[in-house]
Amino acid sequence: MTVAGIGPGNPKYLTLEVKEAIEKAQCVLAFGRVSSSLKSIRTDFIEVSRVDEIVGYAHQYEDLLLLASGDPNFYGIVEFLKRKEVAIDGVLPGISSFQYMMSRLEKSWQGAQFLSLHGREESLDTIGDHGLIILLTDKDNRPSLISKKLGQLGKKGRMYVGFNLSYEDEKIIKANIGEEIEDVSNLSVVVIENEMD
Ligand SMILES: C[S@@+](CC[C@H](N)C(=O)[O-])C[C@H]1O[C@@H](n2cnc3c(N)ncnc32)[C@H](O)[C@@H]1O
Repeated sequence: MTVAGIGPGNPKYLTLEVKEAIEKAQCVLAFGRVSSSLKSIRTDFIEVSRVDEIVGYAHQYEDLLLLASGDPNFYGIVEFLKRKEVAIDGVLPGISSFQYMMSRLEKSWQGAQFLSLHGREESLDTIGDHGLIILLTDKDNRPSLISKKLGQLGKKGRMYVGFNLSYEDEKIIKANIGEEIEDVSNLSVVVIENEMD
């Protein structure tokens, strides 16, 4: 199986290599959001809704392309497949959602601390020593709650939230840590500029 990153979602951000791989592959697996945004390239995606399902297909087909959001090696599917001992023939890189977000904000990201709350329980206490934190969220770990929790921890600084990045309904908002944030979607990246003493 080959794993390919599709970037933040809008087909404009596919690499040429990934676009060609999608066109040529015998069978393409994709999650719902990923497949619906790429209908202009191909329509016969096999939609999956749970990561476990991928393992079953990997045993069924030899020439399989699996599409992952952003870059597959950034809090992505590659780690999971390796744990399940699924043979990977190659990984095609994609633009990560956070790279897209930082370009929109026109901010450098070297030296940032990365954290994913996507389907994970992670503590926000650890961000004390970092000036720049980039966070992946999910429907439970929402920007509004992150702002509230950081405020309760006594953190100060700026927060930037990018919802539905690269899609037509993309929305980027700025707030101070602790302020109320409207969660306009379950898909978001949070960037924190932490004021340290
Ligand atoms: C399982 S992680 C995969 C991250 C992916 N490998 C990457 O490089 O962006 C999914 C999380 O990435 C973020 N994400 C992916 N695409 C996004 C988009 N278009 N807009 C906002 N956040 C996005 C969200 O935090 C989402 O919950």
